[in-house]
Amino acid sequence: MARTGTRIFSGVKPTGHLTLGNYLGAMRRWVDEDQHRADALFCVVDLHALTVDHDPARVRRLTRQAATLLLAAGLSQDRCTVFVQSHVDEHTRLAYLLECTATDAEMRRMIQYKEKAVRERAGSRSVRLSLLTYPALMAADILAYGTDEVPVGDDQAQHVELTRTLARRFNDRYGLVFTVPDATHPPVGARVMNLQDPRSKMGKSHAESSGIVYLLDEPDVMRRKIMRAVTDSGSEVAYDRTAQPGVANLLEILAACSGERPEDLAEGFGSYGALKKQTADAVVELLRPVRDRHAEISADPGYVEEVLRSGAERARALARPTVDAAYRAIGLLPPS
Ligand code: AMP
Ligand code: TRP
Repeated sequence: MARTGTRIFSGVKPTGHLTLGNYLGAMRRWVDEDQHRADALFCVVDLHALTVDHDPARVRRLTRQAATLLLAAGLSQDRCTVFVQSHVDEHTRLAYLLECTATDAEMRRMIQYKEKAVRERAGSRSVRLSLLTYPALMAADILAYGTDEVPVGDDQAQHVELTRTLARRFNDRYGLVFTVPDATHPPVGARVMNLQDPRSKMGKSHAESSGIVYLLDEPDVMRRKIMRAVTDSGSEVAYDRTAQPGVANLLEILAACSGERPEDLAEGFGSYGALKKQTADAVVELLRPVRDRHAEISADPGYVEEVLRSGAERARALARPTVDAAYRAIGLLPPS
């Protein structure tokens, strides 16, 4: 396990099959960089999947699948800690103290809450209280481990900012308990957009799947989705997120796959078709090893279980002292 003194924590919700957005925005850096340069923990945050209407069997299945995909993508048990949030009680223990630190107005201001609450109401579903308090649990996930860095896509910036505010407020009121974490984002790919609706994020729980590349899609399905991506009127390939969001999204995906800059790539294409073809090839090749390894690991469920068991054990031991310190600092009498 790398011990550079830097602690990294990040998570993924088992609310749907993992996507190219998850991979380019978060997972790939966890694998290629974070696990090698710091003491890193990666968590399948299953409690967060209960904040919207859910099917119990599906959450269980997706939790196992997300853990398997993290390992298939290249997280190694020897380099980092992979575990399931609900296996470590410290997360919910700490979340309550952070609910007692945050304000109602702060929670209501969260973009993700506002968007999802609208979606739930539009589908005639009631809004679960946990959807509102979710950022307190996310802050607990991060703060319980004395985390320095939180590698996430752009959409999580506001939640990490709130986590920083809560850490500082708690420390000011009750004494220094928490490290104030920083969010880190990839240079390209921090916000992969839906291929059919390039003004909205490629999210895993969208009803219509034609604009979403899933990590476990068959290569020909990935290819078809990318070849049918919505492009913009006009025919020149230029990198302009506002005027040409569809083309800009493809250029960013290709840039994230190839390590080049989207502006530079734009100059090399004479047609949308050529851009789509090259992007499709790049995505299929990037994800091929992940799919292959997923098939291998899935054949040995005992392996994943063992990784998650030992991951939770280590996580628990790391979180316990910080959460106990927070309980003491806030005024709760320690059990004798
Ligand atoms: P989630 O699927 O919401 O649990 O997200 C897990 C991680 O993937 C978080 O760090 C997100 O910011 C990141 N992520 C999710 N969707 C995208 C996307 N479309 N583009 C970039 N990053 C994303
Ligand atoms: N809220 C994050 C998302 O929707 C998932 C998450 C939960 C997370 N807890 C976390 C990410 C802690 C980073 C750190 O993607």
